[in-house]
Amino acid sequence: MNLLENLKWRYATKKFDSSKKVNESDLKKLKEAIQLSASSFGLQLYKVLIIESDQIKEKLKPASWEQTQITEASHIFIFCNYTKVIDKNIDDYINLKSKSLNIGTKDLEGYSDFMKNSIGALSEDMQKVWTAKQTYIAMGNLLTACAELKIDACPMEGFDIEKYNDILALDSKDLSAAVITAVGYRSGEDATANAPKIRKSIDDLFEII
Ligand SMILES: Cc1cc2nc3c(=O)[nH]c(=O)nc-3n(C[C@H](O)[C@H](O)[C@H](O)COP(=O)(O)O)c2cc1C
Repeated sequence: MNLLENLKWRYATKKFDSSKKVNESDLKKLKEAIQLSASSFGLQLYKVLIIESDQIKEKLKPASWEQTQITEASHIFIFCNYTKVIDKNIDDYINLKSKSLNIGTKDLEGYSDFMKNSIGALSEDMQKVWTAKQTYIAMGNLLTACAELKIDACPMEGFDIEKYNDILALDSKDLSAAVITAVGYRSGEDATANAPKIRKSIDDLFEII
């Protein structure tokens, strides 16, 4: 199975070759892999910023535990979740769905109300947690797509969310950085590239009931 081979090939890259950049055509595929991610109700309550500006990467590095991936990788994907869910988010989705299925929005009213009521029942804090969770699914797809394209990546939570929100002016857009991924090509000097995978055994990880 090619997928498993690719997943064995990938690793959380510590040192990128800063001279190598991901090309536009591959970038387009990575964006599509994220776009196709599953999300709760299909609402996709997040936005993904792709940082290629060296200037912004330099600003983000001190807010990222000084991790060198931030300035050495080709692109930094910043998955930002919406901090509150408003009726408009649901109405936008209903409009998209009605256009795609060629049915009137009236026919989707029941579904729309169901979503509004279920999400509205969550506290604002829980809504934030819920929208942030969705970003991890998208990040998982990004990691898998990168592996398939033989592009290296490092998923990262080692950064200061508030500082990111400040640097990228996310608060005013009701967004918050949730998780990030450095994407590019491994440096020949990355000693961790050939490290064995540390994983629980299949027996430990699974239980059939
Ligand atoms: C949500 C998440 C956050 C992570 N944060 C960091 C990080 O800030 N810096 C880093 O070097 N690696 C980070 N990692 C990489 C993990 O340490 C790595 O995936 C794990 O040790 C398994 O190794 P592998 O991905 O190389 O197979 C993170 C991974 C995940 C999934």
